[in-house]
Amino acid sequence: MSEENQSKKIVQPKLLRGMRDSVPDEQEVMQWVVSRTEEIANDYGYRRIETPILESTSLFNRGVGDGTDIVEKEMYSFEDRGGDNISLRPEFTAGLMRAYGQHGFISKPQPVKIWTHGPLFRYDRPQSGRYRQHSQLDFEAMGDPAPVLDAQLINIAYKLLSSFGLDIRVMVNSIGDRDSKTMYQGVLTEYYKAETNLLCEDCQRRLKINPLRLLDCKEEDCRDLSGKAPQMIDYLSEPSRLHFVSVLEYLDELEVPYELNHRIVRGLDYYSETTFEIFSTSDDERASQRALGGGGRYNYLAESLGIGDVPGVGFGLGLERIVLALKDAEIKPPESEVNVFVAQLGDESRRGALAVYERLLKAGYKPAEKFSKDSIKSQLEIADKLGVRYTIIIGQKEIHDGTVIIRDMDGGIQEEVDLDKIEVELAKRFEN
Ligand code: HAM
Repeated sequence: MSEENQSKKIVQPKLLRGMRDSVPDEQEVMQWVVSRTEEIANDYGYRRIETPILESTSLFNRGVGDGTDIVEKEMYSFEDRGGDNISLRPEFTAGLMRAYGQHGFISKPQPVKIWTHGPLFRYDRPQSGRYRQHSQLDFEAMGDPAPVLDAQLINIAYKLLSSFGLDIRVMVNSIGDRDSKTMYQGVLTEYYKAETNLLCEDCQRRLKINPLRLLDCKEEDCRDLSGKAPQMIDYLSEPSRLHFVSVLEYLDELEVPYELNHRIVRGLDYYSETTFEIFSTSDDERASQRALGGGGRYNYLAESLGIGDVPGVGFGLGLERIVLALKDAEIKPPESEVNVFVAQLGDESRRGALAVYERLLKAGYKPAEKFSKDSIKSQLEIADKLGVRYTIIIGQKEIHDGTVIIRDMDGGIQEEVDLDKIEVELAKRFEN
C-alpha cells in the first residue's frame, strides 16, 4: 500500500440502521429457544419446511394485502437483474401457502402441519424489540377448518413460551368469516364516521381501507374510541360464533388461560375467524405491550393466491422478542456442562493433550482447553472459572512415562494415572 493511501483514514463499516448482530452470548439463548421449539414441533407432528427469503412481490400484495402497513410501507422490494419484481419476505405465511400449492400438498392427508424459522424483513421505524430484520418461529396447520387446530396451536405457543419460565398472557378474539367481517366493517365505519375529527391521521385514512385496523391503534384518542366501539363478537355469523366457542372450549380443556380482547384484529389482511396474540408480563410497561407472537386463521388466503379452498391456521413468535423477554426476566439457558479441563505444559505435551481431548470427547465428556497458553497457572485459573470438577494435566514427564495427572479442582489433590486408563479413572471419580 502506498504511503498516501495508508495515511487516508479508512472508515470502518457499520451495521445498517434497524439491523443487528446476534453475538455468541445471544446465540446461545436463541439456540436454546430453537431447540425447544424443535422438540415441541415433534411432539405435535409439525414438520420442518424451508422456503426462500426472496419471493415475488405479488405474493405479498395478494396474500398479506395491498392496504396493510407491511405491504404499503415496509417491504424491501426491488427489481432484480432480470426485471422481475421481488421482495425480501416480510412474513412466512404467504410463502408457506405458495409452497403448499406448488408442491401439491392438497393430495396429502390434511391438515398439513409445518413449521419453520428464519429471518424476515420489514422497513419499519426501528426501536427496542422492533428491527428491520427479525426472526420468527412459525407454525402452520393447512387444509383443515377444525377449531381444535386453533386451540392446539395456541396451546403449543403457550406451552413453549411458558416452558422457559416466562409468565405468558394469551389474548384471543374472532373476526369471523367473510360475511361477519363485512357486516362488522359496516357497523364500525358508521361508528367511527361520527367521530372522524377525533381520529389520528393514520386512522382517518385507514377508515376508508380497513376499519378493523382502527381497533388496534395505539394513539390515546383512538384507543378511547376503540374501547367504546361495537364489538366484533356481537356480529359473528352463527357458524363463526360456533367455531369460536369451540376454540374457547378446547382451550379450557387444555387449561390454557386466555383473555378475550376485541382489539386483537391483526395487521395482515388474510385473517378470518380466530385471532390471537401472546404477551409476557413484565414490569416494563413498554415491554409488556410488545407481542411475543401472534397468529390466527386464514381461511381465504389460499383463494387470494389462486390455490383454491385451503383453510389454515398458524402463528409466528418473534425470536428477538423472546430473547428480550428472557433477559428481562433474568432467565438463562442451562450452563453448558463443561466438566473437565485439559491443561498442558508446552509443545511436546500439547500434542499429547490434543489426543487426550479427542478421547474425552469420544467418551462423552464435555472438555475445555486453552491450548494456546503454556502457563499452568493461567490454565488452572481458567479451569477454575469454568467450574470443572477435574483438570487433566499433561507435562513432558507424563508424556514420557505414559501417564497423566488428574487434579481434583475442589481440594487441589493431584493423582497420577495411566494415560491408557484415563477414561476409566475419570469415570470412577465422577461416580463419587
Ligand atoms: P406478526 O404479528 O406480523 O404475524 O409477527 C409475529 C411476531 O413477530 C410478532 O408478534 C413479533 O413478536 C415479531 N415481529 C414482527 N415484526 C417484528 C419486527 N419488526 N421486529 C421484531 N420482531 C417482530 C405474522 O408475521 C404472521 N405471519 C404470523 C402468522 C403465522 N399468522 C398465521 N400464521
